[in-house]
Amino acid sequence: MSDICDIPGSITAPRHLAIIMDGNGRWALSRGKQRVSGHREGANAVRRVISLSAQLGVKELTLFAFSSENWKRPALEVNALMTLFVQAIKKESKSLKENGIKTCIVGDKTRFPAILQDQIKKVEELTKDCSVMKLNIAANYGGRWDILQATQKLLKKCTEENLNFNELNEDSISQNLSVPTDVDLLIRTGGEKRISNFLMWQAAYAELFFTDTLWPDFDKKDLIEAFTFFNSRERRFGMTSAQVQNKEKDNAD
Ligand code: IPE
Ligand code: IPE
Ligand code: MG
Repeated sequence: MSDICDIPGSITAPRHLAIIMDGNGRWALSRGKQRVSGHREGANAVRRVISLSAQLGVKELTLFAFSSENWKRPALEVNALMTLFVQAIKKESKSLKENGIKTCIVGDKTRFPAILQDQIKKVEELTKDCSVMKLNIAANYGGRWDILQATQKLLKKCTEENLNFNELNEDSISQNLSVPTDVDLLIRTGGEKRISNFLMWQAAYAELFFTDTLWPDFDKKDLIEAFTFFNSRERRFGMTSAQVQNKEKDNAD
């Protein structure tokens, strides 16, 4: 586990943190290496951030590992990523369990090689009763896919149970998403300022933090910077600043 002794006590972690882990390829190319070595180094950053997030009190962490659009990449890179996923899950399962990390892989898993689907089932089963932090690894994930599959599930339920479509509400959609909880802080590394079809519904009111740091370099300092930014925001959810402050005062009394 990473050392958190030197982290300011005033930092409050977001409840649900989501990260678009971007920049592995550029990290490798800038060192004259193959893109896949950037993905390998990125896996070390994943380990670091899972551990730090749990220690800092994040309750749910959703990491974007492979988008539904990433199949468009060269076969060599896609295959290397699949192998890396299998290896990483195999290697980390025990430590995830020991550290109380309930791990779920979210996305359309049907397209994955059988060996990867097996590893996914194993780690999900092994960690199912863990309660320190929930970790969602988004793989073959797309925000639009998630909304579509939630809609399909709801329509099926309505048809089978003869329920009235007009009674569906926003919560019905949220509850049927593969990641049902709203995101509090969304970080994107690697300098781009876009969502790239990540948690389209869940990030509706997320605070957004963009950093030029490439994912393999992302460390404790970057995470603290993001949390400090998060702590400095006033989350108004449509209200006025005065209303928010009164509400906070009432809650404190
Ligand atoms: C993110 O890094 C990892 C995946 C999308 C799998 P990239 O591979 O997109 O890195 P860049 O953006 O090309 O540097
Ligand atoms: C988003 O990164 C997906 C992941 C981090 C897994 P990309 O590098 O694929 O995003 P775009 O294509 O530049 O928007
Ligand atoms: Mg990228």
